[in-house]
Amino acid sequence: MPYSALLNVMIKAAHRAGRSLKRDLGEVENLQVSLKGPRNFVTAADRRAEAIVLDELAKARPDYGFLGEETGAHPGTDKANCWIVDPLDGTTNFLHGIPQFAVSIALERNGAIVAAVTYNPANDDLFVAERGKGAFLNDRRIRVAGRRRLDEAVVACGLPHAGRGDLELARAEIAAAQRHFAGLRRYGAATLDLAWVAAGRFDAFWERDLSAWDMAAGILLVREAGGFVSDLDGGDAIMAKHQIAAGNETMHRELLRLLREAGQATGKGEVSVGEPMLKLIERP
Ligand code: IPD
Ligand code: CA
Ligand code: CA
Repeated sequence: MPYSALLNVMIKAAHRAGRSLKRDLGEVENLQVSLKGPRNFVTAADRRAEAIVLDELAKARPDYGFLGEETGAHPGTDKANCWIVDPLDGTTNFLHGIPQFAVSIALERNGAIVAAVTYNPANDDLFVAERGKGAFLNDRRIRVAGRRRLDEAVVACGLPHAGRGDLELARAEIAAAQRHFAGLRRYGAATLDLAWVAAGRFDAFWERDLSAWDMAAGILLVREAGGFVSDLDGGDAIMAKHQIAAGNETMHRELLRLLREAGQATGKGEVSVGEPMLKLIERP
């Protein structure tokens, strides 16, 4: 499939870093049985992957800025363009030899995400999108799922890590989602959760406490696949609020409504007394 020069640069970087991660995954599997475990090795694998992405992108676009999870911000002389990179998303999966992890690269231009590549080296799934040109999985055009019924929808979410995030709120949201959706999933790699919404595998996804590199590529993938993406209040402050909801128009809207109701029921949203709880129970 003939992609633009820009996407080819990003794909090359993702493939190179992905090859390195795939090699390292073999070693992780060996280390599982050792007493020390693979943790330090995984930290090194993660850094190696970021160094490869940085090297490859800088060779092609030496002036662009770079923001990577491992090495932070590298300001460029070109102030309009900045790469946003998660070299290994799904670290916990990788650490456990679970093949759900990805290299994720986005290009932000003048404040908007204009190109995205998310690559899972374990199964070779390559998700790409460029603004105005659609989203693709392994060279095939992808679209968000068309389902409109919540009781037929499979939805993904994140879970707060121990000691982080609002557990009470998360439990209320998950309980509400369980009541309404056909299935709820927690796969552990936000970049792939969003890519899977774009590909129609998940009907919707939401998560709090994410970073720019977890969401940047996925925002464009979902939008270019015809989906809707917002913060959990339905606005555009995804990066500022570190939270995201995605799905087709109906699923996105219904997910936001359900989360709002769950928040109100815990007293964490705008409460209109008595009503939210009733609504939750009444809904099919
Ligand atoms: C994590 C994954 C996970 C999400 C976490 C992220 P990492 O990224 O995307 O799905 O729940 O909040 O931090 O640490 O594996 O790059
Ligand atoms: Ca991540
Ligand atoms: Ca990471």
